[in-house]
Amino acid sequence: MNEEINLLSLEKIKGLLTAQNRGRQEALYRSARRICAENCGSKVLLRGIVEFSSYCRNTCMYCGLRSQNTGAHRYRLTADEIVFAVEELVGLGVGTVVLQSGEDPELSPDWVATLIERIKKSCDIAVTLSLGEWPASFYRKWRSAGADRYLLKIESTDQDLYRALHPGMDYQNRLRCLEDLERLGYQTGSGIIVGLPGQSVESIAGDLKFLAHHDFDMISIGPFIPHPQTPLASYPAGSIEMTCKAIAITRSLTKNTHIPATSALAATRPDQRYRGLLAGANVIMPNFTPPSSARYYDIYPHAARTAPERPDPLLQAIDQIRRAGRETAYFARGDSLKRKKEYSHE
Ligand code: 5AD
Repeated sequence: MNEEINLLSLEKIKGLLTAQNRGRQEALYRSARRICAENCGSKVLLRGIVEFSSYCRNTCMYCGLRSQNTGAHRYRLTADEIVFAVEELVGLGVGTVVLQSGEDPELSPDWVATLIERIKKSCDIAVTLSLGEWPASFYRKWRSAGADRYLLKIESTDQDLYRALHPGMDYQNRLRCLEDLERLGYQTGSGIIVGLPGQSVESIAGDLKFLAHHDFDMISIGPFIPHPQTPLASYPAGSIEMTCKAIAITRSLTKNTHIPATSALAATRPDQRYRGLLAGANVIMPNFTPPSSARYYDIYPHAARTAPERPDPLLQAIDQIRRAGRETAYFARGDSLKRKKEYSHE
């Protein structure tokens, strides 16, 4: 736990988040880039994402996969389709796969465990799961099967806002999941959405303190994107600028955390992920979901979904990395830099 973070006042973070002065903003980004280079190196890590099921039991107000969106087309990939996508990304020099899905009510923990074992047998690659809230027994099973990492965004630490946006869900259970994951030895990631309807700057400042205080291995911060088939359809999108400032502050507070330039930054046209990199992010997540399914993984409207990242899903990511004046780290697992000895497989 970093003492500096406790001492850093919410007021100071709020001041940085709201700074309009160009010079101050640039200074924040410059400092975040320097801290990133010193603690994470200059290269940008690749995580290939495979979104394998669009079924979800939840009704998060912002998300197009919410179960009440009866207009959403649902799909589940087969294990063969997933392994095919993993082999493709490994062939292109990506060292981590992120297996993501909605909280699929039909999800079988044994099926997931067998899938992880199969991937681990066929490829030398880190496996990250992003499957939502499940009992500790599931997390234990997947960890035993070889899963290395888990992403579970807290979304917002403002409990009134959390309750309003996640009907039927329980903030305490989400914290319980994050604790279980840490205890089971997962490299754990969390994160937030910036610009949610009803979210104040104080509330974002509190989120950043929470994320830094927990010292997560990975922290993902993306802008809110309104989805037309949700109750939040008519609200404005979260600001790219505010998202980048939140990334830069998180980099400054947490030093060696893996921070992606999130896909939500590419949801606007043109792709703004390079701005996340310029604000101190060091990870980019190209999408390897087969295009016939990817267009239905409709968490938010996304430019890349209508013009899929094909034939080579890496091209756009690499273009963004170049645009930020950085280089790509091929064939890197990109393990946590926080407990390198414990986790290192290199
Ligand atoms: N805007 C921004 N982020 C969203 N997510 C889901 N829906 C939206 C949206 N409309 C994010 C959540 C979730 C991740 C998979 O996608 O943070 O954790």
